[in-house]
Amino acid sequence: MTTPDDFTLPPDKRVPFIGYGLGLRPAHYADFLAAPRAVDWLEIISENYMIQGGKPLAMLDAIRRDYPLVMHGVSMSLGSVQPLDTDHLARLKAFADRVEPLWISDHLCWTGVHGVNLHDLYPLPYTEETIRHVAGRIRQVQETLERRFVIENVSSYISYAASTMSEWEFVSAIADEADCLLLLDINNIYVSSVNHGFDPRRFIDGVPVQRVQQIHLAGHSNLGDFIIDTHDAPIADPVFDLYRYACRCLGPVSTMIERDDKIPPLAELIAELDRVRAVAAEGLRQFIGDEVQLCAA
Ligand SMILES: [Fe+2]
Repeated sequence: MTTPDDFTLPPDKRVPFIGYGLGLRPAHYADFLAAPRAVDWLEIISENYMIQGGKPLAMLDAIRRDYPLVMHGVSMSLGSVQPLDTDHLARLKAFADRVEPLWISDHLCWTGVHGVNLHDLYPLPYTEETIRHVAGRIRQVQETLERRFVIENVSSYISYAASTMSEWEFVSAIADEADCLLLLDINNIYVSSVNHGFDPRRFIDGVPVQRVQQIHLAGHSNLGDFIIDTHDAPIADPVFDLYRYACRCLGPVSTMIERDDKIPPLAELIAELDRVRAVAAEGLRQFIGDEVQLCAA
């Protein structure tokens, strides 16, 4: 399996499009072992396998023989003001050397303070100071992992009075400053757009196309006045509409469904992935080209 181990490559040297995948969840271990090409690729939650031995690691070793893998983390806390956890980074590097993922991602957020992990993904103030702070930490991560890192936009339910720019300006500036890649979570963009009242297509328009490595799709819970990013339901129609628009603007981007609760039989997720492929094809028929940075609606 090839690995993108040269993180000094120019930003247009992303890992090429690898198709449509799913998150690997224990409920589907047996299904994936029995069907070596049920989907194009799988994403694993890094922390779930950074252990010594046990069934998850044995299953992963077996499944990785048949599936390209990418690693997705939930505890890097890139936005924290505490120093990066270098022990965690070293263990992540050792795990990556074992798994040989196509790329490694985590969230653009903070997850705790004073040594306490709050087990949630909290948004950051969109300021120049935060950009410099987080970009420096991403560079440290990239130097440790010896590859370009991929950062994901989170959903949010609050905003900061200190913010001086839009979320997409913030995300793009960090990607440029850190020279890293982006994982666009289309559901998170939609959730935040409803909660904060912006046009989600402006987010897609505003990110550097050549840095978008991956797309996440997921379900959410609409509570009327606001939406919660629950990952426990099929992808909602407005998220499919935004995904179609993203494909039109960005071209082919490796895409997967995140399902973390009320996990259905694999066949249901594969059927949902077929709809993802169909929607992507609709958007890609209108793809306006690699050179175009902004996609007018
Ligand atoms: Fe996501």
